[in-house]
Amino acid sequence: MKKILDLLTEEMGKAFEEAGYEAELGKVTVSNRPDLCEYQCNGAMAGAKKYHKAPIMIANEVAEALKKMTVFSSVEAVAPGFLNLKLSEDYLAEYLKGMRADKKYGFEPSRANEKVVIDYGGANVAKALHVGHIRSANIGESIKRILRFAGDEVIGDAHLGDWGLQMGLVICGIKERQPELVYFDDSYTGDYPEECPVTIRELEEIYPASSAKSKEDPEYKAKAMEATKKLQDGVRGYRALWKNIMKVSIGDLKKNYSSLNVDFDLWNGESSVHDRIPAMVDYMKKGGWAVMSEGALVVEVAKETDTKKVPPCMVLKSDGASLYNTTDLATIEERMEDIKPDRIVYVVDKRQELYFEQVFRAARKTKLVKEDTKLNFLGFGTMNGADGKPFKTRDGGVMRLENLINDTKAEMFEKIKEGRPVSEDEARAIADIVAISALKYGDLSNQASKDYVFDIDRFTSFEGDTGPYILYTIVRIKSILAKYAEQGGKVDEVTIGKALNEYEKALHMEIAQFAAVMDSAVNELAPHKICGYIYDVANAFNKFYHETQILGEADETRKANLIALLVLTRDILETCISLLGFEAPERM
Ligand code: ARG
Repeated sequence: MKKILDLLTEEMGKAFEEAGYEAELGKVTVSNRPDLCEYQCNGAMAGAKKYHKAPIMIANEVAEALKKMTVFSSVEAVAPGFLNLKLSEDYLAEYLKGMRADKKYGFEPSRANEKVVIDYGGANVAKALHVGHIRSANIGESIKRILRFAGDEVIGDAHLGDWGLQMGLVICGIKERQPELVYFDDSYTGDYPEECPVTIRELEEIYPASSAKSKEDPEYKAKAMEATKKLQDGVRGYRALWKNIMKVSIGDLKKNYSSLNVDFDLWNGESSVHDRIPAMVDYMKKGGWAVMSEGALVVEVAKETDTKKVPPCMVLKSDGASLYNTTDLATIEERMEDIKPDRIVYVVDKRQELYFEQVFRAARKTKLVKEDTKLNFLGFGTMNGADGKPFKTRDGGVMRLENLINDTKAEMFEKIKEGRPVSEDEARAIADIVAISALKYGDLSNQASKDYVFDIDRFTSFEGDTGPYILYTIVRIKSILAKYAEQGGKVDEVTIGKALNEYEKALHMEIAQFAAVMDSAVNELAPHKICGYIYDVANAFNKFYHETQILGEADETRKANLIALLVLTRDILETCISLLGFEAPERM
């Protein structure tokens, strides 16, 4: 289906032609004087020059031609030559009926479908997910769902930080504590244990301790680098220990991501491309792209047009070791070979923007990607605390994501219990669902690139621009539909009728924006557009609900029409929240 504004423009074009003017003049826009009209067209003003005629004359002629058409319920030509328009309630109802009959509610993407890899999550093995990871998870998951809805083939990859010095530090930390472990015995030739020698909790302590120690103690740092090298060179015991650490850590990550309704198709990481690095480096040298500079191997990526300095992209350090850049380049190469995507989207902290600019340029220069493969960096801002600084625990530490989720669930539980008498178990089950909506909506309703303040009070409120408010609206609709069904009504057989009051029409008009909103969410990779839309729909619905008798309506046909509008509103809202990555409970 076409977007409502495009349809109106098409009709207006016909009216201009009918009156003897070119159709291109008939561009319809949303009114900037909503007190006077819903839509407007200023084409007569533009036509005046071309046709050497007073604009009001043109406007009058077009208004006359429009009388024969059914799309507007009111057309006014006003001086000096504007057309003020109100949409026909019948036309609007037909449009909504079309939406209901379509499995994508009338949305058609304005570009060809693509194969897309989304690189998001970015968790680091052996480190707990902390609040810094929530945005990549929320935004990436939503974009994956939005693009799938648009018909793209989308592969989500967790791209774990599971290689390099961070792993050397963990291994070194374990060795300090348990030097007797068989992994560290070079003469050992037997099988290694299946079990990891440390638990996830221990791992989470070991990494920060080891990292801190390496900063103070150069000898320790040297040991960690040696452990890193042994791991990368494939020393058996180190690889076996690493595998066990991975198992424990990924199990824990999966649990945490799934509590946010986040899942990945690929759990690849930096380590996955280790074996292809030598050949890639060779290829880059042979092509003359990778050159020695101050002892390191780099690809020059600066351009004359740069206004800021873009440093060379380092491929190998002076000691010959690979680094973050190298794994990202090799990952691009691997994705191009295995998946052949049209586009790769990186959902990463915006502080890595320059880094990705270097990597992208190096990938293009060395022809790792085809010319028409898009590389998109979607950088997100920081989640801040009330003080405007990155969110911390009360004592100033890094907040584990798990704790943030649990705190939000606890807060929600209190609010649910305050609301109405409900059993402890039910309140907890509801609170768990609603809390996720609070966290996700609070995050996603902000434009990704902006920082935002995490405000647990506001996010968990049932009023205002929040996840719980949206869920509350959905639950309200569901309960009316359930009552209608209880009274013998057939929810699946009702059809939408024309709006009979201004609140109902306002709701129709909001819902009808779906195709346009989805199109911009897809093209701009912008979940916040969907949040803005459902907030408007929910507001329009609640106003309509307060002003309109629904179950109390005596006229059965009218009642059925209203029920059909509720069904569409519910379906649209539920579709949108699933694109954002959360769901609604049955009761609240
Ligand atoms: N693990 C990285 C970090 O914590 C994020 C990974 C982002 N993705 C990538 N392909 N580099 O900073």
